[in-house]
Amino acid sequence: MSQIKILFVCLGNICRSPLAEGIAKEISKTKNLKFEIDSAGTSSWHEGEVPCADSIKIAHMHHVDISKLRARQVKRTDKNIFDLVVAMDADNKKKLETLGFRNVYLLGEFADYLGADVPDPYFFDTFDEGIENVYTMIERCLTDLIEKVENGTL
Ligand code: 4NP
Repeated sequence: MSQIKILFVCLGNICRSPLAEGIAKEISKTKNLKFEIDSAGTSSWHEGEVPCADSIKIAHMHHVDISKLRARQVKRTDKNIFDLVVAMDADNKKKLETLGFRNVYLLGEFADYLGADVPDPYFFDTFDEGIENVYTMIERCLTDLIEKVENGTL
């Protein structure tokens, strides 16, 4: 399979999309797939920052290290680089389309989430409020997405 490049996008690139990047890299590694995987935010608010503490912690609990990732803003040139662009919610999908991205999927279109937005842990009051569900949703959707890429239906 030729090298597929996938970009995951949320708002700040510190909570949801770094989790998606880390989990997707882990699944690809396990399956020995040579995907190129990155993430970015539609805002520049957290450029250069590490992922949020709760995302680092939940990833670590699942043996995924996202602590070395750093936030960056989406660039127009990303359009020419990535084969698949996957937004964490409808607002960011819309923003990407406004920027001229054409091949934008919603992560919640995969598995059985019926197009739901990935809930944003940035607005959770406590670690236990639901980040485990966020992790599960991202992992299940990614497993389905990657299977579809592998069997050529995406
Ligand atoms: P993310 O979460 O888009 O999943 O990285 C957010 C991070 C920061 C902000 C909002 C959402 N913020 O308002 O700064």
